[in-house]
Order: sequence, then C-alpha cells, then structure tokens
Amino acid sequence: MKRGAFITFEGCEGSGKSTQIRLLSERLKREGISHIVTREPGGSDIAEQIRAIILSGKNTAMCDECEALLYAAARAQHLRERVQPELERGTLVLCDRFVDSSLAYQGYARGLGMKFIEEINAFALRDFRPDLTLFLNISPKSAFERKHGADENDRMEQLGLNFHSRVYEGYLKLAESYPERIVKVDCSGTKWDTAGNIYDILKNRKIIN
Ligand code: TMP
Repeated sequence: MKRGAFITFEGCEGSGKSTQIRLLSERLKREGISHIVTREPGGSDIAEQIRAIILSGKNTAMCDECEALLYAAARAQHLRERVQPELERGTLVLCDRFVDSSLAYQGYARGLGMKFIEEINAFALRDFRPDLTLFLNISPKSAFERKHGADENDRMEQLGLNFHSRVYEGYLKLAESYPERIVKVDCSGTKWDTAGNIYDILKNRKIIN
C-alpha cells in the first residue's frame, strides 16, 4: 500500500491555521478522501500532557532550552504513536504545526539557533520531514488584530509583537531555504479564498486527485 502524505500547516498566532485545516477537512470528507487531523504540541495522550506543561501560564520560569527539548520530546512521541502508523495505513495526515514551528519560534525568535534546533529534532524525528508544508503568510500584526489580541492564559501568545515578528521573519527565512517543501499561502482574501488556494496547491502537487 502507498504511504499517505504528511502535510503540515505553519504560521503565526491567529494566522487562521485551525480554521483552514477545518475547512479543508470538511471538503475532503465531502469528497470521501480518508485523512486525519492532528496538532503539535500534542496529538497523542502523552504529547498533550507535555503540551499542558509547555503552554501553562504558570510556568514562566521555564528556560528556553527546556522549552525546545519539550517541544521535540512531544514531537517524537506524536510522530511514532500517531503520525507514522496512519501514514503506513495510507492515510493523508494534516498536522497543525510541526518542526518548522520549533525552528521559527525556538531557533530563530528565541535565538537558540537553527542548527541546535535542527540537531535535537534530527534526533527526535530520525530525519523524518513533512512532504509539504503550507505556510499561512500573514504578519503577526494583522493576525493579532484579526483575533483581537493575545490569549492571557497562553505563555507563548503573551510574548508580545516583537517576538512574534521575529517568528514571522524566521518562517520567511525557512520558506527561502526550503522552497520545494514550504509553500507560502496567500491569505490576503477571505477565509474562503485562502481555503481555495490551499485546495489548489494540494491538487497541483497531486496530493489529492
Ligand atoms: P497553537 O497555539 O498553534 O496550538 O501552538 C501552541 C504554541 O506553541 C504556539 O504559540 C506556537 C508554539 N510552538 C513553538 O513555539 N514551538 C513548536 O515547536 C510548536 C509545535 C509550537
């Protein structure tokens, strides 16, 4: 049986990833295309427990190294427990965030360095990479305006516009470095326009027929 495709969605807070994944999933269901939707950090019971520790607003003392390793640990578990078994069954897997989030947030915006984040994730993932990454290209300023500010219970969202602007810059650099794998999605129209753009990309890449 042919292995399923692994598609990841990336972008800044409020970029509309979750909405777009939901719209795509609804369309794929209507068309009878078998797929699952999952997310990071999380996507399996153990990884969701790690997510709660990482994002808890109480954990302000967490150092950057601990944060980067916890994201990688959650990813290792999620990949083996959930993603790989589905791909082996031939299922299309749609994942809200993956390793590029660690590169943009911890590597670039936190300043830990892309190389260090590549290394810990190479260990966690044994060099496994997405088949295609859709980067929802909207600046954090517009995204926060659209979602009416940051969530005060979320440690990452509370980091402010400067931090999130660096995340955005990190994503743009990644898209330049991996032009084949990372596609920038035009989000300047309505959510329906963006959904159409995403559907067309999947068709052009022959991920769906
Ligand atoms: P979410 O809000 O999209 O569910 O993501 C949770 C937060 O975790 C979001 O602020 C992005 C951040 N994050 C990282 O900093 N590094 C990572 O590797 C991942 C997966 C998420």
